[in-house]
Amino acid sequence: MPLKFGTSKAIAIAFGVLTVSSIGGMLTMVILFKAQTQNVTMTPPPTMPTTTLAPPPQMRLPKSLVPQKYEIVLAVQLYTKIIEEGNGSNPNITTPNQTMIFTGNSTVHFQCAQKTMSIFLNSRNLNVSSPVVLNKGANRNIKVSGLKHYDDESDFLELELMDALEAGGNYSLYLSFHGEVSDNLEALYLSRYTDGIFDYESVDDPNADRFIAATNLQPTDARKVFPCFDEPDMKAVFELTIIHRRESRALGNAAPRENNIIDDEWQYTIFKPTPKMSTYLFAFTVVDDSFTFTRSPISNTDRVEINTYARPEAIDAGHADYATEIARKLLRFYESQFELKYAMEKIDQIALPDLYPAAMENWGLITYQEGFLLYQEGVSSLLHKEDIATVIAHELAHQWFGNAVTMKWWNDLWLNEGIATYLSYFAVDSVEPTFNIKEISIMNDLHDAFREDALASSHPLSPPPDNITTTNEILGMFDSISYSKGAIVLRMLANHVGEVVFNKGLQMYLKAFQYGSVEKDDLWEYIQMADNQNRFAKAVRNTDDIAGFMNPWTTQSGYPVITINTTDGQVYQKQFLFNNSVNSSNSWTVEIEFISNASSQFEKVYLYNNKPVNKEAFIAKNGEWFLANINCTGYYRVNYNPENWERLLAQLQKNRHSIPLVNRGQLIDDAFNLARAKLVNVTLALNSTLFLTKETEFLPWESAVRNLEYFILMFDRSEVYGPMQIYLREQVRELYNFFKTYTDDDSVPQNDHSLQYTQLLAIKLACSNGLPECVEMAKQKYAAWMKSNNTNSIHPNLRSEIYCQAVAAGEKEEWEFAWDMYQTSSNTSEKDQLRRALSCTKKIWLLSRYLDYTLDPEKIRLMDVGSTIYYIAQNAAGQALAWNFIRANWDYVSQGDGAMLIAGVTSRFSTEFELEELMRFQNYNLGGGAARAVSLAIEQTQVNIQWVKENKDVVLQWFEQKTSSVRQKEN
Ligand SMILES: *[C@@H]1O[C@H](CO)[C@@H](O)[C@H](O)[C@H]1NC(C)=O
Ligand SMILES: *[C@@H]1O[C@H](CO)[C@@H](O)[C@H](O)[C@H]1NC(C)=O
Ligand SMILES: *[C@@H]1O[C@H](CO)[C@@H](O)[C@H](O)[C@H]1NC(C)=O
Ligand SMILES: [Zn+2]
Repeated sequence: MPLKFGTSKAIAIAFGVLTVSSIGGMLTMVILFKAQTQNVTMTPPPTMPTTTLAPPPQMRLPKSLVPQKYEIVLAVQLYTKIIEEGNGSNPNITTPNQTMIFTGNSTVHFQCAQKTMSIFLNSRNLNVSSPVVLNKGANRNIKVSGLKHYDDESDFLELELMDALEAGGNYSLYLSFHGEVSDNLEALYLSRYTDGIFDYESVDDPNADRFIAATNLQPTDARKVFPCFDEPDMKAVFELTIIHRRESRALGNAAPRENNIIDDEWQYTIFKPTPKMSTYLFAFTVVDDSFTFTRSPISNTDRVEINTYARPEAIDAGHADYATEIARKLLRFYESQFELKYAMEKIDQIALPDLYPAAMENWGLITYQEGFLLYQEGVSSLLHKEDIATVIAHELAHQWFGNAVTMKWWNDLWLNEGIATYLSYFAVDSVEPTFNIKEISIMNDLHDAFREDALASSHPLSPPPDNITTTNEILGMFDSISYSKGAIVLRMLANHVGEVVFNKGLQMYLKAFQYGSVEKDDLWEYIQMADNQNRFAKAVRNTDDIAGFMNPWTTQSGYPVITINTTDGQVYQKQFLFNNSVNSSNSWTVEIEFISNASSQFEKVYLYNNKPVNKEAFIAKNGEWFLANINCTGYYRVNYNPENWERLLAQLQKNRHSIPLVNRGQLIDDAFNLARAKLVNVTLALNSTLFLTKETEFLPWESAVRNLEYFILMFDRSEVYGPMQIYLREQVRELYNFFKTYTDDDSVPQNDHSLQYTQLLAIKLACSNGLPECVEMAKQKYAAWMKSNNTNSIHPNLRSEIYCQAVAAGEKEEWEFAWDMYQTSSNTSEKDQLRRALSCTKKIWLLSRYLDYTLDPEKIRLMDVGSTIYYIAQNAAGQALAWNFIRANWDYVSQGDGAMLIAGVTSRFSTEFELEELMRFQNYNLGGGAARAVSLAIEQTQVNIQWVKENKDVVLQWFEQKTSSVRQKEN
């Protein structure tokens, strides 16, 4: 699944004060914590059995049995529509009730590797019966003496046998079972929509209700659909038969082989066998037969059929066209990049009205939230297209990395997610070069990883497998570390060995492990092989031990700050932690690429742990500056002696172009974060933003805004905020004016997407800091829309920001108009923009009403509850409300993503009182993801309290001084 795609980057930039990466990062976490829905209540934790049940002493299945193939029959009784006939005039016609039951049976074929008297599988929330164990060699049944369900987190189903299974023997196990379709987005679950939504009359017509049964099984929910060996390396072939209603259509991982009518009510669909794959990738959906699709034109060169399914209105309006076309291009890109064909004959992409997370890479049947698949030309923001392309690129990369080659266990989840994230940079760049988003995406991931990995409570990219056993621990792995740090560390390796060698290594690794399972050492081995074949690189580089270079980055948490002193040439490393009272002895092999203004050459040195490097290289003899980590290819921060900092900042003000674009942003980011960790003065960080008055590129601005965001969160309830707003307003004035003619004309710079990002950022920063012409512009455009009788002439890119600013500056009327538009719009991206804008009001009573709406699924879909509350909490006026609200309604609101909620709601916490409240909240049993988020929030709050205490006066003074000089200039 995609990590950071709970939100549109475009919208994220535009929203509130928040930035691309902070929203991205937090929403990311969202994805993961869906599993503990109903069970996560304020009850004491389940006590583990202390008795001595013979195996298993832990959560993992014994490896005595090796599954090979499942034959699964599932009867899904759900009606996809229920039409009331006769309008009640004929009392003899009874309308059926919806039925959530599913029944099924399965036969799993397996080989015995080690003699055993019992079979262990995983099963949860299923009523299992009638076991039949067959010794296939002897064609003889083996009696089952007991069927036992473990009432703990292992979810074990144990079958005790009368005769032993012998090593080397082939067996099968038949089970019959039934269960219930879930109502909360997990396992086999129900999704709803209204047919003919464009026809507003029909919204309240129960005959227009449509129902979908869909699956979402990662990481451990396959066991809720059929009893199975539910571990990623226990791969098998799946042969699925679905029995479903006559008026419905069933989709599975593989193409259908056969479809037959049973009677008036029922039909069945038999699917072809899947490739050998992990249980979490198993998927099917049952949709109404009106749910239709866009097919990619099949040409001679395309073996694979790509079908994009969505609500009929969306298909008819062409909203699935972009997704279909881009998937085709991406698939071609990957096939040639990997030199390995996609393994199946079709890919279905389906837009589900309800899904959590944003998308899931099930082999051959990829599921998406509608907002990440459907694109409406002229209504959706152009930047939204990038999100769609990026999510599809991520999910398609998984068809190889994740599906064909899978991590052995969840501790190495980053091998799936880090690689898919890394590959999507190149894939999108290749098929949509005008988007120009490679650097922006990379920097997003770098900053997400930097932020999370600077806390002492972070975890290694690849922890020992025994540390990750329960479902909650597994869910905790779906975070910025696995996705973003994973991608960034791979990028560092690619830079180290060269992209050509890196890609060659990936190709060999894919071929070697196709349909198999891997751990990180397997990747190192194949990159090493590719590197060894490349003699030239070996000759010029003095480290050629890939595992030795990489393991410190993957087995230790955190990352270093490299300190370079250009007066004496000293260079050393130290783990970078926000809390500098934490001791750490971690160290890394660091490849330092640097330039100086004294030489045009790009140079490279290595820092091995703390062995000294060539000091001469870094001595400034004639007052020159040095700049290290060129283009941020290394996963580390850089600090310098004050003189070098001064020279770099002076260079930025004099002629910023001597410093590469990516580094212009990174200098700001390093300065602010080093200040947070008390390694430099906070005034140095603030000084690093002075050059921005002339800057028009996105990355430096984004970096400043993201970092000042922290100042805003810490100070927007204090007297620092006034002068700070004046400073920001003055800094952004020129940038706002740079785009003014575009903005006023409802247009955007056409050929450069990064300029489109900058335009949005300029509007956001200008309006939220009260630049009068900006606020006026937003109010006027919104008022014109309100008056216009449903014609909206605001440019799609600018809508989210203008809605938000107009609602913020507006009254009840503006808010209610946005609410009406939200309720009646059928366009997902428009709805999302409005849902966000509604949280921008400064009126407490409206925010409070809006929070109450989140409890009503008719108003706010369950999958949107978490992000809606998150948005409200980002608003200074809504934060305290949101904190009270989530505590009062925790069971309901945490169903989506408790972790994200906690991160969002506590982001301003900086007082002892807030810390105490958090600690009290920690005493509830919150479940894995959320409990971890509370610990992170506690650590962060402690850091914040200290930071505010130490910095408030000097920050206030700096802003007062800067703004007074600005005022004098103006006079
Ligand atoms: C309903 O069924 C009863 C008994 O079968 C029959 O007598 C009656 O005519 C039916 N009513 C209608 C409206 O069809
Ligand atoms: C539907 O459910 C209601 C309430 O449980 C019951 O009275 C009614 O008979 C059911 N209708 C059918 C067609 O089963
Ligand atoms: C599994 O269920 C299907 C559908 O109910 C049935 O036709 C089939 O006979 C069952 N399989 C076995 C082995 O009983
Ligand atoms: Zn993914």
